[in-house]
Amino acid sequence: MDTFKEGRISFFAKDEQTRDAKVFFNPARQFDRNLNVLLFRSLGMKDLCGADLFSASGIRGLRLSAETDAFKSILLNDIHTSSIIKKNVKANEKRLNSDIITESFNVTEIDRSKGLFDYIDIDPFGSPAFYAVHAMNNMKVGGIMALTATDTSALYGSANKACAIRYRAVSAKTSYYNEMGLRILLKRIDDIAGVYRREIESLFFDVRKHYIRVYVRIKRIRQSDDINHIYQCGRCPNRTLIEGGKCANCGSAMIKLGPIWSGKLFDRALVQRMYEKSEDADEKDYLGILRSEGDSITYYTTTEMASYLKQHEKKNGAIGTRTVLNNKGFRIDYCFKELLENYRNL
Ligand SMILES: C[S@@+](CC[C@H](N)C(=O)[O-])C[C@H]1O[C@@H](n2cnc3c(N)ncnc32)[C@H](O)[C@@H]1O
Repeated sequence: MDTFKEGRISFFAKDEQTRDAKVFFNPARQFDRNLNVLLFRSLGMKDLCGADLFSASGIRGLRLSAETDAFKSILLNDIHTSSIIKKNVKANEKRLNSDIITESFNVTEIDRSKGLFDYIDIDPFGSPAFYAVHAMNNMKVGGIMALTATDTSALYGSANKACAIRYRAVSAKTSYYNEMGLRILLKRIDDIAGVYRREIESLFFDVRKHYIRVYVRIKRIRQSDDINHIYQCGRCPNRTLIEGGKCANCGSAMIKLGPIWSGKLFDRALVQRMYEKSEDADEKDYLGILRSEGDSITYYTTTEMASYLKQHEKKNGAIGTRTVLNNKGFRIDYCFKELLENYRNL
């Protein structure tokens, strides 16, 4: 076992990212954990009961306890690593602002006897969907669920069968593949919430090559109109949410993708508060782009525009709003035909 320090926590773990790792720890995900802490410092929620259900070393839950004052108690659970979690809790005792409970149950066996939570974190290997089915019943209305998916091949359009089985959706290798994955994941979580007569509001996301992480608020169900399909032209970059017919730009057949979550991806006021609280340049970069990003569904890239128009690639930023999902990506709130005209005249 090695010793690490992250945020205010010193802890034992092994820098191994395999299913067989004795205590999984991935230092490359520090940015994601920093954002997790910042989010709870910015939400203004207090006296929360949290549950980090796939704790590994316990680092995520321990940091939330030590670096925020949002939690009354945090359950740190892991089917394999409870003895190391206990050791890490003891080593950090003086820094913790909440009660810590350690357990080692299989999340597929969670039931209401484990308690109701204001915050549940689902960070397994692969897809979180299966575990969300079990843990959703332990969420309080108004609480927040964070989920990480590392099965990006399924969500990003490389493993279509896996996507159909785990997410009941069709993805594809589009220029906006990671938004497709993000929206398919959110749609699946909303479906799972629906089983319990709840629905989601997406508050925040962190999407990378190897993982998608989302934070959703669990709300009482209403008539949701945040579900749609994307119709992507097989020949040109045009895409639309409106069913039927051929591509309005080139007349080719449209390919039906999804279903997807077509609601908002983040809470702009929350992102603004996170931006104001952050003192880290990388976080400020990310949050600064996100707070001014448009809400339209899917983004175009300067690369696909150059290839379609047979032009040199133009610098991003001249048109639309930038997106944190792709440094060559931009969002517009008008149709592709209009974009072509505007882009040609740049
Ligand atoms: C990807 S790691 C979690 C990483 C951790 N959240 C972090 O930020 O460092 C997944 C962990 O889930 C645990 N695990 C896997 N399946 C589980 C299950 N069904 N119930 C509870 N824990 C499980 C594994 O032992 C492993 O430590």
